Amino acid sequence: MRVVITRKIPDRGIKMLKAAGYDVVISPHDRVLTPEELTEMGKGADAVLAQLTDKITQDVLESWRGTVKIVANYAVGYDNIDMAAARGLGIIISNTPDVLTETVAEHAFALLLGIAHRVVESDAFMRAGKYVGWAPELLLGTDVAHKVLGVVGLGRIGSRVVHQGVKGFDMQAVYYDVRRNEEFEKDTGAKFCETPEEVFKTADFISIHVPLLPTTRHLVNAERLSLMKPTAYLINTSRGPIVDEHALAEALRDKVIAGAALDVFEHEPDMDPLLKDLPNVIVTPHTASATLESRQKMGEVAASNIVEVLAGREAPNAVKT
Ligand code: GLV
Ligand code: GLV
Repeated sequence: MRVVITRKIPDRGIKMLKAAGYDVVISPHDRVLTPEELTEMGKGADAVLAQLTDKITQDVLESWRGTVKIVANYAVGYDNIDMAAARGLGIIISNTPDVLTETVAEHAFALLLGIAHRVVESDAFMRAGKYVGWAPELLLGTDVAHKVLGVVGLGRIGSRVVHQGVKGFDMQAVYYDVRRNEEFEKDTGAKFCETPEEVFKTADFISIHVPLLPTTRHLVNAERLSLMKPTAYLINTSRGPIVDEHALAEALRDKVIAGAALDVFEHEPDMDPLLKDLPNVIVTPHTASATLESRQKMGEVAASNIVEVLAGREAPNAVKT
């Protein structure tokens, strides 16, 4: 059986697939494949291990019809896949939940602490040779402890971010989610908000943890940004299009809010040109899950989903299509 990997990943997942006896074909290009290349690579294969940058459209899925039984996405998000088309064709889709939860939550917090304490600006200041001596008002930031942490989307990652803020920094948490979690509220003291607006109005740091869906696109828009405190910060490690990036850049320029830290962008790999010169924003290149540990585990999870399905069993991380 042939398993196709659309871009080289850390070795453990690849080794698992080889050990299972499959003919493993890895894309020779270390870049995003074109739709034609994707179609070509997957043709006649039994399984595809795909990247979040692969646009798995209806056309691509149809070209794999009849042979490909599973597309194992090397990501927790799967907005790159046409789920309705996969359902129609009976192709199983799996993702990599759990193994990257702590890693992404850590990155969200690294961004939160980094923007609050002006870490990146300070680093640039030192390297530019601007430091001439300690000063009482040099690069003043803002405290994190005891502040209000607002989380939009209380899934695995959002919950972990609340845990870090509450247990580690004595923050008070508020959250919005389509589902209320009273058990979690008891554990953490987090307060449920009936609307996203309430989170935007009350939090000092807002961290976004919803999947990209038609209902979450531009969930953070000019109107909601204008509800935020002028001293508040926005953190986004979910998906770029959840934030109206140009509206955010304008809000940062006009000091509607104090700052932002972003790992994802509306039109990756590009970012709004206005962001580039703003000092009150930190940007990282979609690397929130990018630790060696997590990327190895993601490969293992993707590989084990393929192994199970090709052995005629259920995919442990099949997502509902
Ligand atoms: C990363 O963005 C992921 O969805 O795993
Ligand atoms: C800071 O360096 C202090 O000693 O207060």
